[in-house]
Amino acid sequence: MVLTGAGISAESGVPTFRGGGNTAVWKGMPFDMISSARMLEGDLPAVWEWFNYRRGLLEKLKPNAAHFALAQWQDRFQDFMLVTQNIDNLHQAAGSRDVVELHGNIWRARCPTCATRHDLRELHDGSLPSCSDCGDPLRPDVVLFGETLPPGAFERAAEKAQSCDLCFVVGTSAVVYPAAGLPEIAGNAGAYVVEVNPERTPLSDLCDEVITGNAGEILTLL
Ligand code: OAD
Repeated sequence: MVLTGAGISAESGVPTFRGGGNTAVWKGMPFDMISSARMLEGDLPAVWEWFNYRRGLLEKLKPNAAHFALAQWQDRFQDFMLVTQNIDNLHQAAGSRDVVELHGNIWRARCPTCATRHDLRELHDGSLPSCSDCGDPLRPDVVLFGETLPPGAFERAAEKAQSCDLCFVVGTSAVVYPAAGLPEIAGNAGAYVVEVNPERTPLSDLCDEVITGNAGEILTLL
């Protein structure tokens, strides 16, 4: 099982949220404020503006060597599972299949009323898209602070964590739960847990092995 976070996309040019002593800020707001359920209730257009901005950044970016390495691991190992906290779709762009997306996907919108999902690449609806089925305003299909994970996603990942032999944790600061709890579940169940990150995280001391470095370089070597 491999759990990834924003750091795996850093070498593609995607900014991380934390790390290097910095925390992402947008228009003077910390990212966890603009990406919150509270903000969605109070100012949906601002939330769309933030996610539109991030989609704009992502549009031109490509998967990097780390994404491609993981897509190859899936071909080599029978019971492989890739679990990501990322919403950037770069794992899928590199060829990974059946990715467990714990935090949703920035290229999708969801109707809070009728639950229909929409591909944003097919919607040309201005900055506040509405549901083609029921007409209500759509929201990004992304998990915001204060919200629960999509039904089934964490359960699938946790089941794998319980049964895997080897758990890699790549490019995550390991501070956002429940995702950060997955390597702990794996370790407690007897898996060998390996972290790949240029910086230490709260998880480092719990890991069997910590490989210090950038994901693109390390995963390619492995
Ligand atoms: P963070 O931004 O918190 O952490 C990024 C991690 O990547 C840090 O530990 C960096 O040291 C590491 N890193 C940086 N460059 C790297 C590289 N080239 N190779 C490997 N690692 C590198 O990102 P996440 O842990 O993913 O939630 O953040 C978790 C969640 O917080 C995100 O999914 C997002 C955010 O709020 C939602 O969107 C719901």
